[in-house]
Amino acid sequence: MKKYLVIGNPIDHSLSPLIHNYWMKKHGLKDSVYEKRKVEEQDLEDIVNQVRNDEIAGVNVTLPFKKRIIPFLDSLDDTVTHSKTVNTLLNTGSKTVLGLNTDGMGFERSFTMKPSIEYNGKNIFIIGAGGVTSSILFSFILNANKIYITNRTKKKAEQLRDEYIGITPGEKKIEVIDWGENPKICDLIINTTSVGLKNNEKLGLDFNKYENNKNVLFYDLIYNPKETNFLRDARLRGNKTMNGEMMFLNQALVSFERWTGISPQIDNEVIKLLDND
Ligand code: ATR
Repeated sequence: MKKYLVIGNPIDHSLSPLIHNYWMKKHGLKDSVYEKRKVEEQDLEDIVNQVRNDEIAGVNVTLPFKKRIIPFLDSLDDTVTHSKTVNTLLNTGSKTVLGLNTDGMGFERSFTMKPSIEYNGKNIFIIGAGGVTSSILFSFILNANKIYITNRTKKKAEQLRDEYIGITPGEKKIEVIDWGENPKICDLIINTTSVGLKNNEKLGLDFNKYENNKNVLFYDLIYNPKETNFLRDARLRGNKTMNGEMMFLNQALVSFERWTGISPQIDNEVIKLLDND
């Protein structure tokens, strides 16, 4: 039996097993199973060893271990360079465990789903400056017109911007703005913070200046709950909205591809699995 895991703490809420087991069944991988496991920090080394010894075929890592798993890994791929967080473990042979991060790719692919979203030449406003922000920031550097970042702790946003100093064209494109301020013009506003994971949590930011502007898309990376206050307020204000479902499904898809070599489909059935939860 090939065993795959998603590890985290808490882990009950994870919908990854539903998705991966669906794809495994669909592609006839009868000897594969994907489970969730709640672990403690002291378990991380043992989990990595089990991947190294082929006792576990692949692992997804979620909060709060995306950074803490790194010291136990043998190598990291380019997707970890910016985010400095890992969400996927893979045995690449010769007892080598590789860490990668499929969030950035999942995010980019979410823009290509129907209806696709164009961000070339657009002004983007990112709320939050945690690990997931670094993964997605890289997607915009080449093609966006301007990227604004705000974070409750401003220093973290500044550090993120400073990582692009000397990297053209990133340096000129990123502007940090104060928490509570809004850029004059923007087309896409992305919540990357954890605010909204718990029902009724509010960012406390005022977006009223974008009222009834259908050209502004509010994108929350959170997929559970489906509609955070950030999205609900945007909908009531008359803006366009999108939640994190497509990013979630696409990051899972990239992990699945890396483990099995099979590219699964994001079909209606797999989307419905998220609805049934
Ligand atoms: P991840 O790596 O998953 O992004 P993280 O590094 O802990 O997680 O980042 C969480 C993000 O949510 C940060 O931008 C954090 O802001 P701070 O840097 O100021 O901590 C943001 N965040 C969490 N709780 C918040 C709150 N109540 N209000 C505003 N921002 C919050």
